[in-house]
Amino acid sequence: MDHPETLTEAACAVLNSPAPAEKVVLSHRYAAAWRDGGLGAIGSARPPERPARLAKPALKDPRDMPRRRGAGSLANRIALLHAVAHIELNAIDLAWDLIARFAAPDLPRAFFDDWVAVASQEATHHALVSARLAALGSAYGDLPAHDGLWQAAQGTAHDLLARLAIVPLVLEARGLDVTPEMIEKLRRQEDAASVAALETIYREEVEHVAAGERWFRFECARRGLDPVETYRELVRRYHRGGLKPPFNRAARDKAGFAAAFYENV
Ligand SMILES: [Fe+2]
Ligand SMILES: [Fe+2]
Repeated sequence: MDHPETLTEAACAVLNSPAPAEKVVLSHRYAAAWRDGGLGAIGSARPPERPARLAKPALKDPRDMPRRRGAGSLANRIALLHAVAHIELNAIDLAWDLIARFAAPDLPRAFFDDWVAVASQEATHHALVSARLAALGSAYGDLPAHDGLWQAAQGTAHDLLARLAIVPLVLEARGLDVTPEMIEKLRRQEDAASVAALETIYREEVEHVAAGERWFRFECARRGLDPVETYRELVRRYHRGGLKPPFNRAARDKAGFAAAFYENV
C-alpha cells in the first residue's frame, strides 16, 4: 500500500511496516496528510492482528526480562532508554491500531484528529530516544524487550471502551507515574540530552491521557454508562495485575483524569 487514500489505509501501512524508522517517517507523513485533507475519508481497512516488526529486539515475556537497577552505569542508562524506545515504538502502533480497529462512521472527526496527533507525537518520542541510544553507542534492538504492551492491546481488541481504559488510562497514565523518577536518574548521570528527551515525552503524555479520558467519557455517554464505575470494572477485568500506587496525582489531574477513577480500584 504505497499510497494510502484513506486514514485507515494509512494506519495499516504504518502497522505493516517493520522498520521503526519507517514507522516514524510514515506516521509524520500521514499525520500531515490527515491535517491537510490529503487523506479524505476514514475508510474501513482492517489492521493486522500484530504490527510488523524487525527480528530485533527479541521479544520476551514481561516476567523473563532481566532486572536492572538504577541508571548508575552507562549500561543501565542504555537499558533504561532502550525500554523507553520500545514503549514508544509500541505506542506508535497502538495509536494507529486504535484508529483502524475502531474506526466507525459515527465517531466524530475530532476523535481521529486526537489519535492521529498522538501517533505523530509517539513517532517523535521514539525518534528522540533512539537518537539518545545512538549517541551512547547503542541502538534500538540491541537489547531484548517485553511484549506486555501488545498483549494488552490484543486483550482489548474487541471493545473501544476496554482499549481506552487499558491503554491510555492504565498504561500511559502509569507512564506519568514513573517518568519523573527516570528523569531524576538521568539528571544524576548529568545526561542533559536524555533528560530533555524524557521531559518532552512526559509533557506530551499528559495530552495522551487527557485524550483517553475525553473519549472514554464520550463512549460511556453514548452507551449510557457511568464512566468511573465502568473504568473500575474494565480495569478489574482486563488488567489483572491491578493498579500500582503511588500515583502521580499532579500529572493525572493535569490530564483531567480524576482520582475517583483509579484510587482503591
Ligand atoms: Fe510517548
Ligand atoms: Fe503516549
